[in-house]
Amino acid sequence: MSITPTKADRFSFGLWTVGYNGTDPFGGPTRPALDVVHVVEKLAELGAYGLTFHDDDLFAFGSTDAERQTQIDRLKQAMADTGIVVPMVTTNLFSAPVFKDGGFTSNDRQVRRFALRKVLRNIDLAAELGAKTFVMWGGREGAEYDSAKDIQAALARYKEAVDLLGQYVVDKGYDLRFAIEPKPNEPRGDILLPTLGHAIAFINSLERPEMVGLNPEVGHEQMAGLNFAAGIAQALYHGKLFHIDLNGQRGIKYDQDLVFGHGDLHNAFALVDRLEHGAPGGGPAYDGPRHFDYKPSRTEDEQGIWDSVSANMRTYLLLKERADAFRADPEVQEALRAAKVDELRTPTLNEGESYDDLLADRSAFEDFDAAAYLGGHGFGFVRLQQLATEHLLGAR
Ligand code: GCO
Ligand code: MN
Ligand code: MN
Repeated sequence: MSITPTKADRFSFGLWTVGYNGTDPFGGPTRPALDVVHVVEKLAELGAYGLTFHDDDLFAFGSTDAERQTQIDRLKQAMADTGIVVPMVTTNLFSAPVFKDGGFTSNDRQVRRFALRKVLRNIDLAAELGAKTFVMWGGREGAEYDSAKDIQAALARYKEAVDLLGQYVVDKGYDLRFAIEPKPNEPRGDILLPTLGHAIAFINSLERPEMVGLNPEVGHEQMAGLNFAAGIAQALYHGKLFHIDLNGQRGIKYDQDLVFGHGDLHNAFALVDRLEHGAPGGGPAYDGPRHFDYKPSRTEDEQGIWDSVSANMRTYLLLKERADAFRADPEVQEALRAAKVDELRTPTLNEGESYDDLLADRSAFEDFDAAAYLGGHGFGFVRLQQLATEHLLGAR
């Protein structure tokens, strides 16, 4: 069993993740800033293949053109030296004071126009660096007070922004797709597009829905009490899993951004199983980067950062190995059959069968023994889940 990550595993990390200096609402930094070149070198050494970033992670908000270019050139050189790629780029529309009421949906029209300009500039950079996905996380797009935000108008402005950006990408001929990242709250009291379901509905209202998908984050759905693996299955069902943010979260509380697996481990197992084995005929259901959006805890020093980078990748690979063993176990296959998991893939009507045929089928109703389900026809789901648990624990 190989649990040494390699570039073929396509693990990527946000510059803001390893670069997190420990600042939280109650205290300042506990670590000095990390230089991007050092980050790229360390990620390559530890087996990652990609780096992602917000514009402001690479060059501070308000940088001069020359300062901005210097940092871009330094990143490009580090990429060339290490083979690290930039599969995804995103824009910071949440940190600077100007975005205190959001970017695309600020009540202030001048701020919305400034936000669009900031994103357009960053799309050019994303294309220049070869990124294929452009993430949009609208952390400040929301409100604390119901009377403060006209939600319908805000959604219309959100649509206006995404439609305009899509037009720009098409006109420029960039090979770039958008991925919206839902989150229920934090930093706003309530954020627009709070769950992946809300986001899918919104995407369907856009001019170019095919260009826009999701970047769901483990902890964000779990902050809303939702089942992340199940949400991912629905995103895949709609063809909308364009990118993913892997991390750990323990229940309904603030956004913890723990290492992947350091939260709901059962659901992490189900998630990796879904990503790696979830295609209809078997095999990987998702072929994008395995991207980690976590924060090395502020208790850690620099060695702790690199330990947590390795921990994310190692946990993913361990869960993949456990999921492979689960799928290969004959007893699991038998339990899956007994639970009729496969039978759900069979359409409920026969090919060409009409409702008249169904109405004429006495075995479907008149002769069907519904009463036998009282005390009989158990599905054995608990046995199946215990088998999954034992594989997860390495007991099988
Ligand atoms: C968060 C978000 C962000 C985004 C990032 C990319 O809760 O802070 O997860 O980390 O993923 O801004 O757009
Ligand atoms: Mn998060
Ligand atoms: Mn995220």
